[in-house]
Amino acid sequence: MRGLRSLLFVPGDRPERMEKALGLGADALILDLEDSVALSRKEMARDAVTAFLSRPRDHGVTLLVRINPLDSDYAAGDIALLSTCRPDGIVLPKAEGAASVRALTVRLANCPPVLPIATETPAAIFALGSYGEVGDALMGLSWGAEDLPAAIGAATSRDEAGHLLPPYEMARSLTLFAAHAAAVPAIETVYPDFRDIAGLTAYATRGARDGFTGMMAIHPSQIAPINAAFTPSAEQIAHAWAVISAFEANPGAGALQLDGRMIDAPHLKQARALLARIPSIVS
Ligand code: COA
Ligand code: MG
Repeated sequence: MRGLRSLLFVPGDRPERMEKALGLGADALILDLEDSVALSRKEMARDAVTAFLSRPRDHGVTLLVRINPLDSDYAAGDIALLSTCRPDGIVLPKAEGAASVRALTVRLANCPPVLPIATETPAAIFALGSYGEVGDALMGLSWGAEDLPAAIGAATSRDEAGHLLPPYEMARSLTLFAAHAAAVPAIETVYPDFRDIAGLTAYATRGARDGFTGMMAIHPSQIAPINAAFTPSAEQIAHAWAVISAFEANPGAGALQLDGRMIDAPHLKQARALLARIPSIVS
């Protein structure tokens, strides 16, 4: 299985798009049964997702299913689907901390790894610190900037230029720390303006800089820029090796200089973490 840099949403009621999406270079597809599917098409979407998951999986693309929220009328039917045709992971919307993950895992025997969307309700924000309790059940942690404003009567989560407003910057930062506290990958949220590739690239690059290791996408045009942003560059890899070599050449040294800059324990940790991501990306 590849590392999770790009995760492309495909509406569950569009089987022809699922088929095509396999060849677009995304590391994962998120087959959506929730917000991108109209209520009148929920049943049809389940059938289409079931058929797609029942086919041979020799394509190397990780297949996730986003179910409807656990407190919705659709949850039971979605969970029944998951027990018959097993995806590689489950995206859990409107999650409110470890309690929501447990509520899913008790209802589904041998539950695949869960990727909660962890900031879609006001209460969810205050449960972010609990994900460490269920870290072993998680595939990562992601967040959303579309449902939260709707839930609190806000007009928007972004300013005219597309930049996140302060409440949503906070939700993003808390998700980043919550993911790392639970020792699972932090996955950036979608960039909705899919024609704005420059804006997407800047946003994904910022995410990689800040400690996210992947990002959700909504359109094929977003996949290549996301993969590029979340793939360590040749310079970053060379620098990481230089840091490790410097410490190996100076056993017992706590702090050293490399090209005129101080490096110590956190830099060594960063270098190891960066190199640890390489095999999952190139495999
Ligand atoms: N997955 C697979 N293929 C997709 C796709 C997706 N998410 N989005 C677009 N495409 C394909 C289209 O099938 C089309 O292929 P074609 O040229 O062979 O006909 C091509 O990419 C260009 O599509 P385009 O015309 O630019 O977009 P659209 O108007 O048809 O669709 C959206 C725009 C936003 C409706 C669509 O991208 C989409 O459904 N995205 C996912 C939405 C979603 O799941 N949201 C929930 C999470 S936030
Ligand atoms: Mg939503």
